[in-house]
Amino acid sequence: MNFKKTILITGGAGFIGSHVVRKLVKKYSEYHIVNLDKLTYAGNLNNLHDIVDKPNYSFIQLDICNEQGLKDLFNQFSFDGVIHLAAESHVDRSITNPKEFVLTNVVGTLNLLNECKLKWDDLDDKCFYHISTDEVYGSLGEEGYFEETNSYDPRSPYSASKASSDHLVRAYGHTYNVPVKISNCSNNYGSFQFPEKLIPLIINNIKNKKPLPIYGKGENVRDWLWVEDHANAIDLIYHKGRVGETYNIGGHNEWQNIDLVNLLCDIMDRKLGNPDGESRKLITYVKDRAGHDLRYAIDASKIENELGFKPSVKFEEGLENTVDWYLNNNNWLNDVTSGNYQHYYDNHYN
Ligand code: NAD
Ligand code: TYD
Repeated sequence: MNFKKTILITGGAGFIGSHVVRKLVKKYSEYHIVNLDKLTYAGNLNNLHDIVDKPNYSFIQLDICNEQGLKDLFNQFSFDGVIHLAAESHVDRSITNPKEFVLTNVVGTLNLLNECKLKWDDLDDKCFYHISTDEVYGSLGEEGYFEETNSYDPRSPYSASKASSDHLVRAYGHTYNVPVKISNCSNNYGSFQFPEKLIPLIINNIKNKKPLPIYGKGENVRDWLWVEDHANAIDLIYHKGRVGETYNIGGHNEWQNIDLVNLLCDIMDRKLGNPDGESRKLITYVKDRAGHDLRYAIDASKIENELGFKPSVKFEEGLENTVDWYLNNNNWLNDVTSGNYQHYYDNHYN
C-alpha cells in the first residue's frame, strides 16, 4: 500500500505506547504505523488486540540497544517521524537495577537518534519526538509547579536516565539539526497499565484481598492524567508542536497517595458490593522508597495556550472507568501477573 507517511513508534506494546499506537492507527489510515518493541515484562501485544489486523499497522520485535537491528530497520523503512516511548519506566526497579535503565533509556535513545541523523538528509517534515517525564525536574515542596524553563534535578536512577536522554535529544537538535521535540508528562493512569504502578497495583490487591502497601506516610503528591489524554497531547505535539520545543503535560490533578488509595478503596467496595470501609482495612504502611520525591505538579499553561490542550476527563470519572476496565479484564490481569510478577512482588514488598 502507498502511505503518506511512515511513523516509527517505540515501546508501543507498553502502557502509554499502546494507547498512542491505537490512536494513530485508527485516526490516520493514510499513515503506516510501525511499532517497535522488545516485549520486556512491561510489553504485551494483547494491549493492541483490537488493531493488529489493521492494514496500516506493523509490529517489529527489537531491542533499541541492538544497533545493527536498528540499522536494518531504518534501511527497510523510510521513516518520516519517530515517537519514542520505549523505556524502563518503574522507579522502584531503577533503584534495584539502575544499569538496565541506562542501557535502554540512555544508550537506546542515542542509537535511535544516530539512525535519524544518518538517514534524514532532507530534514523537512521529519520529527524525532521523545516522550519524557516530569520527574526530570526533581521534587517540589508544598508550593510551586514544574515549568518548561526549570532546570533539571533528577533524583532517582529512572529520572536521571530520562534526564540524560532528554539532554541527548536536545544535543542532537542543536549539534546535528535533527528536528526534535520533547514532552514531559505527569503520572498517567488508565487501562493496560502494568500492576506494579500505584493505581493498578492497588486495584489488583483489593481484588485479591492483599495488603495495600503505602510507602512512608502516604503524604507524597502526584499529578494524575488519564492516559488517553496523554495520547491526545502526543498527537497534538507531534503534528502541531514547534520543532526544538519542550511541552509539559499535566492534569491539574494533585492527590496525596493516601487520599487516592482511600478513594480507590471506596470505589472498589461499591463495585464489589463490599461493606463500607472493608478495603481501607487492607492499607499497610511500609518502608519508604529510597529518595522518594515528595511532590510533582505540572504547570501546563504552555501546551494549553499554544496548542489548546485540555484534559478531557475528570479524575473521579477516569478512575471509575479504570476500575471498571480492570474488573472487566480478568484475563489480561491474570496473564500479566502470572510468571515473574509474583516473584518481583514477593521480593519487593517482603
Ligand atoms: P511501560 O513500562 O508500560 O512500557 C515500556 C515499553 O517499552 C514496553 O512495551 C517495553 O517492552 C518497551 N521496552 C523497554 N525496553 C525496551 C528496549 N530496550 N527496546 C525496545 N523496547 C523496549 O512504560 P509507560 O508507562 O508506557 O511509559 C512509556 C514512556 O512514557 C516512557 O518513556 C516513560 O518514561 C514515559 N512516561 C511515563 C509516564 C507514566 O506515568 N507511566 C509518565 C510520563 C512519561
Ligand atoms: P508510581 O506509580 O510508582 O509512580 P512514580 O513513582 O513514577 O510517581 O508511584 C506513585 C506514588 O505512589 C509514589 O509516590 C510512590 C507511591 N507508591 C506507594 O506508596 N506504594 C506502592 O506500592 C507503589 C508502587 C507506589
